[in-house]
Amino acid sequence: MTVTEKIINKAKAAQKTIVLPEGSEPRTLIAAAKVLADSIARPVLLGDPVLIEKTAADLGADIKGARVIDPVDKESAGYYAESLFRLRESKGLSREEAAKLILDPMYYAVMMVKCGDADGMVSGAVHTTGQMLRPALQIIKTKPGINCVSSSFIMELPDKTYGEDGVLIYADCVVIPDPTDEELAHIAVTTADTARTLCDFKEPRVAMLSFSTMGSAQHESADKVRRAVQIARRLSPQLCLDGEMQFDAAIVPEIGALKAPGSSVAGRANILIFPDLQSGNIGYKITQRLGKADAFAVLQGLARPCNDLSRGCSSDDIVKTIAITAVQAG
Ligand code: ACO
Repeated sequence: MTVTEKIINKAKAAQKTIVLPEGSEPRTLIAAAKVLADSIARPVLLGDPVLIEKTAADLGADIKGARVIDPVDKESAGYYAESLFRLRESKGLSREEAAKLILDPMYYAVMMVKCGDADGMVSGAVHTTGQMLRPALQIIKTKPGINCVSSSFIMELPDKTYGEDGVLIYADCVVIPDPTDEELAHIAVTTADTARTLCDFKEPRVAMLSFSTMGSAQHESADKVRRAVQIARRLSPQLCLDGEMQFDAAIVPEIGALKAPGSSVAGRANILIFPDLQSGNIGYKITQRLGKADAFAVLQGLARPCNDLSRGCSSDDIVKTIAITAVQAG
């Protein structure tokens, strides 16, 4: 069974309510119909009900079982606007500004999640990562004990030689451009949690990547990774984590044994933590294109799950992301 199939089965068992703020977007409607038909989750579509009905009918998407909410509906918008105002008053948000912001479906959806009226949110078929992330960061905030929101890319390779039977998790490839040592440590711990929850990794083995292996090179950027290793060990003493190490030392047993003898991670890592967003984002795209990996992103560290789509996503990608969000909510 693939990772995706396992996630979909878990989502079916969890039966969570997932709000889709881009409710009249065609790929989203096709995905909602599939999610309903296969009982993967309970979708809530935000948008103009007349437009949603018409677009769904034109597409032949059966969304009869979905809840449709018009975010400009006065009663619910008023309630969420007042809650938003109270949450952000200390940051200088006025009542009038909150009333305007709540008309943005991203803010409305995040407030639904915050108030417990939905278990999670999926968007990004139309909106950018920043437009989706900002309200989630401002309102949902991080899980207790975690200092930053980041992302994991689950990479499923056709070649089963490396990682966990061909599955490797990369982080952070989406959110934090230049993480501090502290943030890098939290990314490592959070990614191990994602590996257990979503991918059923029994033993997450985390390699903290660098251009240096165990002090072979001296530079501030490698020092940052070395400090992150120490912090991560304090945060999660049981976690199998090591570094700093180069990519080949992390995944190739012979090179790991040569460059990092005695390491419990070198040569057998199933989680790769990149030192910054440039290397993480480039790394996942190289694996996806040259290694022909199936790649999908997950936001992690939020107190309640919200996930981002690529604007080039297919309706199947949206179904998959709804299932991931439902499992994270469970
Ligand atoms: N974790 C937790 N909270 C955060 C984080 C984080 N990583 N980043 C920002 N915040 C919080 C701040 O503390 C602040 O909270 P407050 O308002 O309550 O004080 C709030 O979020 C806004 O912070 P800003 O510093 O104003 O952050 P900004 O809104 O400018 O940007 C963002 C945040 C959108 C995540 C930014 O870091 C970003 O653009 N990252 C890169 C996204 C991107 O383009 N990725 C690559 C493409 S995607 C792909 O290839 C698949």
